[in-house]
Amino acid sequence: MSNPSILILPGDGIGPEVMAEVRKVISWFGEKRDLAFDVSEDLVGGCAYDKHGTPLHDDTMAKAQEVDAVLLGAVGGPKYDNLDFSVKPERGLLRLRKEMDLFSNLRPAQCFDALADFSSLKKDVVAGLDIMIIRELTSGIYFGEPRGIINEGNERVGINTQRYTESEIARVARSAFELARKRNNKVCSMEKANVMESGILWRDVVQEIHDAEYPDVELSHMYADNGAMQLVRAPKQFDVIVTDNLFGDILSDAAAMLTGSLGMLPSASLGAPMANGRPKALYEPVHGSAPDIAGQGKANPIACILSFAMALRYSFDQGDEATRLEDAIEAVLAQGARTADLLGNEGETPISTSEMGDAILKALDDSL
Ligand code: IPM
Ligand code: MG
Repeated sequence: MSNPSILILPGDGIGPEVMAEVRKVISWFGEKRDLAFDVSEDLVGGCAYDKHGTPLHDDTMAKAQEVDAVLLGAVGGPKYDNLDFSVKPERGLLRLRKEMDLFSNLRPAQCFDALADFSSLKKDVVAGLDIMIIRELTSGIYFGEPRGIINEGNERVGINTQRYTESEIARVARSAFELARKRNNKVCSMEKANVMESGILWRDVVQEIHDAEYPDVELSHMYADNGAMQLVRAPKQFDVIVTDNLFGDILSDAAAMLTGSLGMLPSASLGAPMANGRPKALYEPVHGSAPDIAGQGKANPIACILSFAMALRYSFDQGDEATRLEDAIEAVLAQGARTADLLGNEGETPISTSEMGDAILKALDDSL
């Protein structure tokens, strides 16, 4: 049997430096836990555009389809702001999501005890928070047709289309119910059924799937604007939230900040099972490429390392090893290790990206 395969796409900005820390962690599991992976690396985003004139080369796309999991850093940067829309770095990421059909995007928002003070909300509102946002990732207004900027009379009109089929709603609803059963058995579905037909259909289909297949799970529905308010008012009322592509983009950023820093949040994007039973999968931190701090060793590698923990859990059936890694990160934070994004008081000195990686390796060693 060959080792499971991972394609690493570090991308732009802080992507390469946080991914370097993930590579150390991957090697650690190979050396110390007998969990070896075949790791290859390629380009995505602006760096791919610089080399190939496209943010995702066809060969890279083909590789991504073949491996057991893709780990992505981040894409984009000011250098690429004026590129034509079709070759912007983000298109590389969106093509991966679409062509791998990664319809279920898991974005956990978990508040580590050591960081409860960093949230912009009161400590008791966020302490112990553990929610999971499931964002539909391959449809909706991100991909709907017609789209474009057209001329109408003497002015331009920008057009995007929100479009969801029943089967697209049903499959992401199922993934939310399945996950809820492994957690606190509660799903809240968010849409705008008060103003959008696609929202009415969303609500109906989620309810139908629930009644037919998951009556044991507690289901509620909420308008997405109210959901945004509830997320900052009383986030602990939620367990699993399921929502569409655009609302999920926005609500997951809000949820991320509840935990104190965007530098802490991982994500998994999962599709249908492949022939070997593993789901098509891409793992990436929720944070972006942060060009303002790129290349300075300031970035927090934890979101990217936690994304690898999600890969251990969801692609490689290594839940215990995922927990080992998450516990190591928790221990390092409890000991006071802080990258610059996690500093509260003036006078504290941050550690660098690679020092954080090393501290996590040390905590992993201590776990043996
Ligand atoms: C995200 C990002 C992306 C999105 C961008 C980079 C295309 O904001 O993953 O949340 O809008 O989906
Ligand atoms: Mg986003």
